[in-house]
Amino acid sequence: MPSCKVHESLKGQKAMVTGANSGIGRGIALALAEAGADVLINFYSDPTAAAEVVEQIEGLGRRGLAFQADVSKEDEVLAMFDAMLKELGTIDILVNNAGLQQDAPFHEMTLRQWHRVLDTNLTGQFLCAREAVREFKRRGVVPEISCAAGKILCISSVHELIPWAGHVNYAASKGGVMLMMKSIAQEVAPARIRVNSISPGAIRTPINTDAWSTPEAYESLLTLIPYRRIGEVADVGRVAAWLASDDADYITGHSLYVDGGMTLYPGFATGG
Ligand code: NAI
Ligand code: BGC
Repeated sequence: MPSCKVHESLKGQKAMVTGANSGIGRGIALALAEAGADVLINFYSDPTAAAEVVEQIEGLGRRGLAFQADVSKEDEVLAMFDAMLKELGTIDILVNNAGLQQDAPFHEMTLRQWHRVLDTNLTGQFLCAREAVREFKRRGVVPEISCAAGKILCISSVHELIPWAGHVNYAASKGGVMLMMKSIAQEVAPARIRVNSISPGAIRTPINTDAWSTPEAYESLLTLIPYRRIGEVADVGRVAAWLASDDADYITGHSLYVDGGMTLYPGFATGG
């Protein structure tokens, strides 16, 4: 894997990453810190892992702050934003990353499984985005910091586009994220707020251990990936740091697939 260095394009910016004690969120938090941002690490469980990420961020010379909140609970999200403003002063970048799967064959899916996934993956992103937009609008553009008044990155999935049998609640949540993101982007663009999604393919994290942890599973996964390797969290981290930076200032309402070609209909490479 080539290691590409991110330059300090986010110097002085304050970021919040939800679900940042694990997987993609952790990778993004570290990439934003490497690019110069101070970062609030939201976690829901495993405070030890959150503290480790904070320590790594401080090792990079930035401020890190861990905050426990369930993103699907309005009062907890409001408390998290209060802490963000009190401790870090403002917010420039929100990364809506927290998410989960609760898989089941459709005819066996319980209402609880449906709600848990929609509440976290979609409502959680709504609640955090709303609070971020409130602060972005209150503060406006600070030209020394960024040409935008604020940036929101929604972590969606290739499954906002690719239907996924056995994961109906999850695909529905990510499809919802796609049009929520685009509609917010359309509404807040005049206030110089950029809203985009990163839509990963298969990235090696705890959410999909079954898909990569045995040689057989990994071989089968590769048939879905033209680029012929699984994604790593750093692949997503680098894209997030760039998309949040002024280098991407004219991009809003876009869903960027970081998927090694998973959305290229790999089954048609030899057929059709
Ligand atoms: P992960 O399981 O390592 O991380 C998910 C994080 O979200 C964990 O820190 C978890 O504690 C947190 N979380 C779950 N419910 C929460 C809640 N109610 N409040 C606050 N935090 C909560 O998995 P991964 O892969 O890093 O997932 C991160 C995001 O990336 C998710 O939105 C997922 O849907 C998305 N994604 C993952 C892909 C993959 O292949 N790993 C591909 C496409 C999208
Ligand atoms: C899912 C992973 C899956 C990937 C590609 C993600 O949204 O969370 O479990 O490996 O999509 O299918």
